[in-house]
Amino acid sequence: MGEDLIKLVDMVKVYDTGTIKVLGLHRVNLTIKRGEFVAIMGQSGSGKSTLMNVLGCLDRPTMGHYYLDGIDTANLEPDELSTVRNRKIGFVFQSFNLISRTSALKNVELPMTYAHVNQKAREQRAKELLERVGLGTRYEHMPNELSGGQRQRVAIARALANQPPLILADEPTGNLDTASSVEIMELFSQLHKEGATVVVVTHEEDIAAFTERIIRFRDGKLVSDTKNKPQIQTEEEAVTMQKEGSHAD
Ligand SMILES: Nc1ncnc2c1ncn2[C@@H]1O[C@H](COP(=O)(O)OP(=O)(O)OP(=O)(O)O)[C@@H](O)[C@H]1O
Ligand SMILES: [Mg+2]
Repeated sequence: MGEDLIKLVDMVKVYDTGTIKVLGLHRVNLTIKRGEFVAIMGQSGSGKSTLMNVLGCLDRPTMGHYYLDGIDTANLEPDELSTVRNRKIGFVFQSFNLISRTSALKNVELPMTYAHVNQKAREQRAKELLERVGLGTRYEHMPNELSGGQRQRVAIARALANQPPLILADEPTGNLDTASSVEIMELFSQLHKEGATVVVVTHEEDIAAFTERIIRFRDGKLVSDTKNKPQIQTEEEAVTMQKEGSHAD
């Protein structure tokens, strides 16, 4: 286990549709350290989801290497890959991907079922997680009885179920209004402050502004990688920053 949670080396992804080959990503070199909060940006078709699918072990690079937590994922068998996915990665999707007609609680329990956590421990942790995301009174609600922002919070609780070191979110605010989007990004910020590594795909500069590093793609190539000072979120933080500023020259 190194400090590098994600390391891509000359990673190429080509989609072979049978008739034509489509370049998804071209020679991407990228390192993300444990605890970083990163935004992935770029126009439609630039390769953002392709990147997330590789990072999430849902797809394999055509060429090059992907090391996740020091493990070369190219050498893993399909069942080993799904174990890695279950233990090391929490996914959050634009369309929430919750199981309908299944309570918030059961949705959050599901990844723990796959990880063979016993019923009692599962339920207790799912309740703690739902409380953590502000849904302590909504355990028994079905997804269709929740607002978009609440559904996404259930999805985040589910992503956290097995305490994965890496959280991947592909346009998590894409289906949400501005207020819910801000709430979701504040939740990711908190998780990041507690030590989680969070990678978020977004089209919106306002959403990327919450993160500490912005990586941009164009035509399947990584074209920029810059540090970002996250926007101020709380009054307390604003005061702290003012104080720090007054010490500066
Ligand atoms: N399953 C696939 N088969 C063939 N080509 C694909 C496939 N998935 C993606 N592509 C192609 O790979 C390129 C990158 O697509 P990708 O989905 O990664 O873009 P994106 O940046 O996520 O776009 P969006 O913002 O619209 O979600 C595009 O040219 C796309 O057409
Ligand atoms: Mg996409």
